[in-house]
Amino acid sequence: MGYRVAVVGATGNVGREMLNILEELDFPVEKMHAVASRKSKGVEVSWGDKTIKCEDIELFDFSTVDLVLMSAGSDASRLWSEKIGKAGPIVIDNSSAFRMDPDVPLIVPEVNPDAIKLATKKNIIANPNCSTIQLMVALKPLHDAATVRRAVVSTYQSVSGAGKAGMDELWNQTKAIYGLGDARPKLFPKQIAFNVIPFIGAFQDDGYTDEEAKMWKETHKILDEDIKLTVTCVRVPVFVGHSESVNLEFDRPISPDEARAVLRDAPGVMVIDKQEHDGYITPVDAAGEHAVYVSRIRKDPTVENGLSLWIVSDNLRKGAALNAVQIAQLLDETGIIKPASGYRSITV
Ligand SMILES: NC(=O)c1ccc[n+]([C@@H]2O[C@H](COP(=O)([O-])OP(=O)(O)OC[C@H]3O[C@@H](n4cnc5c(N)ncnc54)[C@H](OP(=O)(O)O)[C@@H]3O)[C@@H](O)[C@H]2O)c1
Repeated sequence: MGYRVAVVGATGNVGREMLNILEELDFPVEKMHAVASRKSKGVEVSWGDKTIKCEDIELFDFSTVDLVLMSAGSDASRLWSEKIGKAGPIVIDNSSAFRMDPDVPLIVPEVNPDAIKLATKKNIIANPNCSTIQLMVALKPLHDAATVRRAVVSTYQSVSGAGKAGMDELWNQTKAIYGLGDARPKLFPKQIAFNVIPFIGAFQDDGYTDEEAKMWKETHKILDEDIKLTVTCVRVPVFVGHSESVNLEFDRPISPDEARAVLRDAPGVMVIDKQEHDGYITPVDAAGEHAVYVSRIRKDPTVENGLSLWIVSDNLRKGAALNAVQIAQLLDETGIIKPASGYRSITV
């Protein structure tokens, strides 16, 4: 017994992970609906040890569910999320469409769980950008300990951040280059196989991209508007797992040992940091895992009170689906949603 849940975008990378993680974390589900576009009607997706058939979003009656995990892109969210919220269920929206809306909380449960109080203003909660989520989980405990003044962030973002089509492009281009086939870029602006692209999203007038701007705007909404951030977002030929090289300047001196101790106690963080090859994490190591990994913690001697670190996490899990399911758990724990049966879950 539990909630009536719909996962919208259930045929996508994130939607499938949402179904997996709801099941892995024993979220109390009474009835699960997989929803996608009309073209996927009847397509089977895995739900636990069963398969369920996708339903057409246009025909789905959202008033019959308690909770909607929405992961179908910004255009679909702009079209649907407010309508769904008005029909009754709370929408956990994975797109960027509502993240900056003052009436929509933007939540990383380890960082700003109290923002959940705003959930019923529009019945929409926004899930942050994948790169922001992992940065927030690592930054929050350090910020509490020594106040972060400035952060310089370079991301190394996997192709799964651009959906199934991004993964297909890396796979097909890699094969085409080896087999002398057509390796021309389609989704990404330049060749992604055997290359890196210092561009994600769209250019803004200031020379940054909107993906880069999302990271500082979301950091200001979630953690602290006084933190200064400069960001370079880079797409790399990795299937799953985003990495970040981060330089931080603090209010007071904080040693690498103190930072390691703070991070070891922090929820959602795993510190793997030794000067040996098993002592740092790569995206391949992090894929399929729940944690935000922090490695290579060292003093940055070029600024006052500086530290450098390396942060890696699975962008489809903590960067998207896991964070959304943790928000669903928070709704359940705080009693903002209640299953008709009165059953309450135990947090994992
Ligand atoms: N991947 C990441 O790292 C990541 C992280 C954070 C946030 N996000 C966000 O999550 C969303 C989905 O990402 P993804 O990686 O799962 O993309 P994806 O693999 O391309 O899947 C997109 C899903 O959305 C569905 N969809 C698209 N347009 C729709 C519409 N008009 N109505 C109903 N369903 C529609 C698709 O259904 P059909 O198969 O029927 O077309 C598919 O199920 C995006 O907003 C993305 O920005 C992704």
